Amino acid sequence: VSKDAEKMIEAHELLKKFYHHLLVNTKEGQQALDYLLNRGFTKEIIDTFEIGYALDSWDFISKFLVKRGFDGSMMEEAGLLVKKNNSDEYFDRFRNRIMFPIADHHGMTIAFSGRVLGDEKPKYLNSPETKIFNKSKLLYNFHRARVHIRKNQQAILFEGFADVISSTRSGVQNAIATMGTSLTDEQAKIIRRNVSEIIICYDSDSAGIEATVRASKILKDAGCKIKVAMIPDGLDPDDYIKKFGSEKFKNDVIGASVSLMTFKMSYYRRGKNLQNEGERLQYIENVILELSKLESAVEKEIYLKQISREFDLSMEVLKDQLHQKEQQIK
Ligand code: GTP
Ligand code: MN
Ligand code: MN
Ligand code: MN
Ligand code: MN
Repeated sequence: VSKDAEKMIEAHELLKKFYHHLLVNTKEGQQALDYLLNRGFTKEIIDTFEIGYALDSWDFISKFLVKRGFDGSMMEEAGLLVKKNNSDEYFDRFRNRIMFPIADHHGMTIAFSGRVLGDEKPKYLNSPETKIFNKSKLLYNFHRARVHIRKNQQAILFEGFADVISSTRSGVQNAIATMGTSLTDEQAKIIRRNVSEIIICYDSDSAGIEATVRASKILKDAGCKIKVAMIPDGLDPDDYIKKFGSEKFKNDVIGASVSLMTFKMSYYRRGKNLQNEGERLQYIENVILELSKLESAVEKEIYLKQISREFDLSMEVLKDQLHQKEQQIK
């Protein structure tokens, strides 16, 4: 680690504590604190995740950092300050936002994500890529989750910070997330180095469902065993926990996670009327094509039987069709 990197991390560690103090101990932070408490965050969870608040000010942090001897241009490079046009002055990148510290895999703070208190855009503002922050290699909460991932021999991958935090609050602590971007090969490799089984638990809107399919390919290529935890009704895991509680989340979502194939079957069913012959055939085609990519003969047999029963088709015909597909993809 270079001297610059050390200084940048030092500034992040300092600001993390300062933002947290502003949130929990000051009048200026009260509105943000109320927002979080209203959303179901507890005092305890706010402490655990060291959540903070950036004041509604253009230069509070700039002054704070300079007063403590940090160099403005280095702090700009660290993503904490932004340079004013055609001048040597800097202003604060994060203003009037709830601050989620982002730690590297050792637990050192290297970036922030700031959420607005209302509906303004962007909803989350992340630190830019810097010398110390590489989004594509970072998994949110990994440093806290690692011990639980090892113990449970399983990791759970979420879309958002709020989902990770709610999951942890409900007692499911092997929770990680990407930085709001698609899962990368590098992240998948990091996961695989620690555990073989991963449960994908993304939002149940169409973006989340599409992202589940994409993430599953990447995780499979990295050698992971994949399951999918499905959330009903277009909710996200955080919404679900708020609405139905921790026990239902543990038992009916995480505990009821399904194989990737079962997830894909329900994915292909979405919006289809299987009473309609054309749509039914399309569905069966889709499933058989997916089955042709499976390695395990036992798995193939299990799902073929399921199709055979559901649509009253002979195993013979289905096997023929499957073999044809297998020839095609060779
Ligand atoms: P809440 O509304 O706070 O519950 O957030 P969410 O996690 O449910 O957000 P959403 O499902 O919309 O997005 C999932 C993740 O994508 C978030 O946790 C962020 O990491 C990221 N994300 C969402 N909105 C933005 C944005 O406006 N900018 C950036 N850079 N990332 C975003
Ligand atoms: Mn505290
Ligand atoms: Mn989403
Ligand atoms: Mn969401
Ligand atoms: Mn949410």
